[in-house]
Amino acid sequence: MTDRLDVAKSVELYRRACALFPGGTQTNSKRATAFAPGAWPIYFADSHGCRVTDIDGNTYIDYVSALGPITLGYCYEPVDAAIREQLGRGIISGLLSPLEVEVAEKVCDMVPCAEMMRFMKGGAEATSASARIARGYTGKEIILNSGYRGWSDIWAAQAGNPGVPDCFEQTIEGFPRDDLNALEDLLNKHQGNVAMIAVDVAGGTAAPQEVVEGIRRLADEHEAVLMFDEIVTGFRMARGGAQEYYGVTPDIGVFAKGIANGMPIGVVCGKREIMACAKDLIISITYGGEALSLAAASACLDIYEREPVQEHMWSQGEKLQRGFEAAAQASGVPFKCYGPSVMHSMRFEYEDDALNADVWTLFLQETAKRGVLIRRGGLLFITYSHDDEAVEESNAVVAEVMPIIAEALEAGEVREKLLGGEVEESFRSFA
Ligand SMILES: Cc1ncc(COP(=O)(O)O)c(C=O)c1O
Repeated sequence: MTDRLDVAKSVELYRRACALFPGGTQTNSKRATAFAPGAWPIYFADSHGCRVTDIDGNTYIDYVSALGPITLGYCYEPVDAAIREQLGRGIISGLLSPLEVEVAEKVCDMVPCAEMMRFMKGGAEATSASARIARGYTGKEIILNSGYRGWSDIWAAQAGNPGVPDCFEQTIEGFPRDDLNALEDLLNKHQGNVAMIAVDVAGGTAAPQEVVEGIRRLADEHEAVLMFDEIVTGFRMARGGAQEYYGVTPDIGVFAKGIANGMPIGVVCGKREIMACAKDLIISITYGGEALSLAAASACLDIYEREPVQEHMWSQGEKLQRGFEAAAQASGVPFKCYGPSVMHSMRFEYEDDALNADVWTLFLQETAKRGVLIRRGGLLFITYSHDDEAVEESNAVVAEVMPIIAEALEAGEVREKLLGGEVEESFRSFA
């Protein structure tokens, strides 16, 4: 095996991109500096099933899966066929597409909280719409939030991000997801003025059942709207998302990634009484009824209805968790997988943060060189196209790489083994 993965064309194109795009990419988490820069692919030429091919001609089993939207697999034929069919009839027009109603009815059948909804184009739009609806409905102002909800001012205000007016900071407060006491303290502090509690109950790690139920109880006691951000959990943990998995129904659910296998569509849905007030709010986008995404969503929802997509993702994820952890243990590397196996997170558990970061870079570099793409820390996004062959191949690659990590550590040479450039944090977390 040659020492270095040949990603020369990717690196050259990225050099041009960095002169054109602040940060080099459209998605902060896809910055080359978030992976193993110089030793990891950057641009794709083709993607099919669970595999992507980069512009240098290398093919990989991919677990980044576009950061979650790909649930069925790349170029999944029944979904692509639905998009092509709609393309032949038009993308969007001055008249509405019947697909709006068709998809909405399917979402209502599948998602426990869904009685009414609005379609958006992405996650941040949909979470932002949920904030406006909750504030419009309750007449209250404060949002209590745990986790990343997207780039808009509403959410970015929580972390005091530059570019957001200071006064917005008073409208949102963060809480640690699994700390019911902290949430209750905030509800008491803002007594009578909390419009919404927003939480992703299973991104990264899954909240304990009693925490999810406790959040529901506290929202009821304080008459706050409860919103579940299901952008990563939706149509993945269960067809109806984390709310179906836990049997706890929020007032509003927000979905995006998993609904259309990569086509850009977000959904803010919820109880009729609450959602109905959106009629009089400024929540309106030109592309809300764009029919290619709706056609893809309709096809995906049919497949979720008929086929064991989520069951497959859970079981393949479990095999990968077991394989990765066994490989780490055999090499004496402190490594663990956390969270739901449909999208688990992973940690190297060295106490030194800088060492941990370097170990990750080495791990990404060596797994990519052997044909597997994994995101630093996860989430490991499994799809319906990750078949047994792909899973076994991935486990074999990780079994080869863990001893390399162990040897580098033993020799105190992790840094020396890194072939690429510096890694930087790709974006600030709000949690
Ligand atoms: C839980 C969660 N909420 C919201 C968002 C924002 O979605 P988008 O990037 O589509 O705006 C993301 C994106 O990763 C997410 O993971």
